[in-house]
Amino acid sequence: MADIKLVEQADVAGKRVLVRVDFNVPIADGVVTDDTRIRRALPTIAYLVGKGAKVILMSHLGRPSGTGYEEKFSIKPAADRLAALVDAPVAFAGDTIGPKAKEAVQNLAGGQILVLENLRFDKREKKNDPGFARALADLAEIYVNDAFGTAHRAHASTAGVAHLLPAYAGYLLQNEVATLTGMLDDPKRPFVAILGGSKVSDKVGVIDSLIDKADTIIIGGGMCFTFLLAQGKAVGASLKEEEWIDRAGEMLKKADAAGCKILLPSDVVVADRFAEDAAVSTVPVDAIPADMMGLDIGPETAKAYADAVAGGKTVFWNGPMGVFEMRPFEAGTKAVAEAMAANAEGDTIIGGGDSVAAVNKFGLADRMTFISTGGGASMELVEGKALPGVEALK
Ligand code: 3PG
Repeated sequence: MADIKLVEQADVAGKRVLVRVDFNVPIADGVVTDDTRIRRALPTIAYLVGKGAKVILMSHLGRPSGTGYEEKFSIKPAADRLAALVDAPVAFAGDTIGPKAKEAVQNLAGGQILVLENLRFDKREKKNDPGFARALADLAEIYVNDAFGTAHRAHASTAGVAHLLPAYAGYLLQNEVATLTGMLDDPKRPFVAILGGSKVSDKVGVIDSLIDKADTIIIGGGMCFTFLLAQGKAVGASLKEEEWIDRAGEMLKKADAAGCKILLPSDVVVADRFAEDAAVSTVPVDAIPADMMGLDIGPETAKAYADAVAGGKTVFWNGPMGVFEMRPFEAGTKAVAEAMAANAEGDTIIGGGDSVAAVNKFGLADRMTFISTGGGASMELVEGKALPGVEALK
């Protein structure tokens, strides 16, 4: 972060400060159902309010069509939730760069907050359109990016506008980048990475990168079957990506040469179909019946994985071990989450996405060292890719 200016270096008192947050939060019936991302943005917002800045917050929410207002993608529920969490007046502008936003900005006093409507109601946001970026910049005097969850997108609000105003990183963005780069560059060892999820193809870059950095990589989730195929095992009706088998085999060889231990399941929970009430049994990985699909790691594997997690001084997790949303297939994911929670000495870092949903489901979130607010962004960072939202601040 040495080449990035931090929010506390800005002279914000009485100034209009445009803050890109990631308020892309789940909403049901007009109410935010998980306000984690809003709460994680509070340190930056509270700091700016405390300094007497005129705080203008902007975010996307979901993936609207980009052709104007769509009620179900309005960011108003997030603004309402924020209002309940902060000790400052929160106004909501009914548009983003239009007359309502301009008027609301005019009326803003120091220490007050204005939330703009969903940036993606205008398709120019995702295109990083220079005119749209200019219109955003014209609302303010200073720009702060605190949207780590969207830092992997080169959009007008994350990239374009950063070149038009004095630009700074907010506390959440700083914290995320420092934690994840610290983990990669200087981990306490042993460094254990747990990777799950359904597809190898989604994680190739991440696995490749971690083979060079981690001491042990634990593999679970649907993608383990492509690795088992690379080892010559039969996986029955389990999820597989035939075109990635050779690549999976190459990664196993690369890990071997690099001295990185890869753990694969020794047993799996199989079912005759993808359903909560399916007929379920546990089998060794070399005896998966042809008509059964693996939907979770088995108990012997869960124990081995939990032991590896217990021995880690840095433990990073992205991706569930099985279909944890369904009770018969949740045990593997739960075992890994519990082992992380129990590892009080190690740095336990959750890399966003489904693993966050899993630790929340099992009530273990507050026992982790760090939970990233960015699924896609944290994966790209771990993969070694430059994040446009971070690069634009340099
Ligand atoms: C996320 O939830 O991953 C971020 O908010 C980015 O959203 P996007 O994938 O729609 O760009």
